[in-house]
Amino acid sequence: MRLAARLEGLGTSPIRAMHAGAPAGAVPLGLGEPTWELPPCARAALAALDGSCGYGPNAGLPELVGALASFYGAAPEEVLVSSGSQGALFALFQAWLGPGDELLVPDPGFLAYPALARLAGASCVAYRLGPGGGLDPAAFRAALDASPAAKAAVINFPSNPTGGGASLAALREVAAACEERGVLLVSDEVYRELYLGPRPPSLRDASGYGLVLSSASKGWGGPGLRVGWAIGDPELLAPARLVHAAMVSCPARPSQLAALALVEASAEVLPAARAELRARWEALAGALRSELGVEAELPAGAFYYWLPLPALEAEGAAFCLRLRDEARVILVPGSAFGRAGARFARLSYAARPEEIAEGVRRLAPLWRRA
Ligand SMILES: Cc1ncc(COP(=O)(O)O)c(C=O)c1O
Repeated sequence: MRLAARLEGLGTSPIRAMHAGAPAGAVPLGLGEPTWELPPCARAALAALDGSCGYGPNAGLPELVGALASFYGAAPEEVLVSSGSQGALFALFQAWLGPGDELLVPDPGFLAYPALARLAGASCVAYRLGPGGGLDPAAFRAALDASPAAKAAVINFPSNPTGGGASLAALREVAAACEERGVLLVSDEVYRELYLGPRPPSLRDASGYGLVLSSASKGWGGPGLRVGWAIGDPELLAPARLVHAAMVSCPARPSQLAALALVEASAEVLPAARAELRARWEALAGALRSELGVEAELPAGAFYYWLPLPALEAEGAAFCLRLRDEARVILVPGSAFGRAGARFARLSYAARPEEIAEGVRRLAPLWRRA
């Protein structure tokens, strides 16, 4: 049987593949998920489930829609509840992209964007990030100007994989460029609540144009709930709602109830998540200083450290395999996130503080020798 053409080139995520082949006892600094516990309010919501477990509305439970509307200062019709923010990305790309269309994606950037664009039949055009892995509006505009077929663009700050940010002015410039061209702008803000310095701005602070995506997975600490959302113009969301409903009917009801508890308790849940993040950052910064002599700069947010490869190490993927198999510490080669990542590795400090310290201790000898 012949595979559908849109699946060509679609493979297992290199992040999952690095973990799947790892030796026993390898320290996992690869996965991008919180290792702190699901907050008690969400566990209580799951434990309190009564006998009713119906599907619920396609649009999401009205209570969750209402809680998200008030969190974002939006109207309920501006909220789409999805199965993870990845469900929203899938639905939006299916709704707005097709063969011949191009999607602007960050390089380096989250590896699901090109995969989801391909599933919609579209192709990707990369724009480079600026120094520190943040948004460079000039590079964005240059890529947009060079892409007459661009129909949509994704920005993601704080960034996976660099931890870099976007200034309010940069967000304004990018929103204006997209609005001028009528290009759909999607701001993936899943890491916005995970910061240690100033709170990163949202696209919604900069412009009324575009859609904002987030989820219960990162700052709210519940990746396994698989609840995400998109916020913005109801006309842009309407066709994505149809796709999402056709795909899954609605996100799982128990998960939505847990997400509701999390969003309602944002004032406690998010600062507690940042305290967990700070403990992890301090473990990382201390280990980088003592083991590698590196003074790490505080990132804009997220829990990724974008580590330049040692000068003599030409091939990041091979080096990360050696780190995994010889030093037993898992990092993700930067090349997994795009061409611009070739000389980097992504270290996720979502891991537990003691794992972070042990992981850096294990990788240090290979780093120094390379
Ligand atoms: C930048 C970015 N966007 C979206 C997602 C998808 O997250 P979820 O579907 O759990 O909301 C991830 C997950 O790692 C991510 O890193």
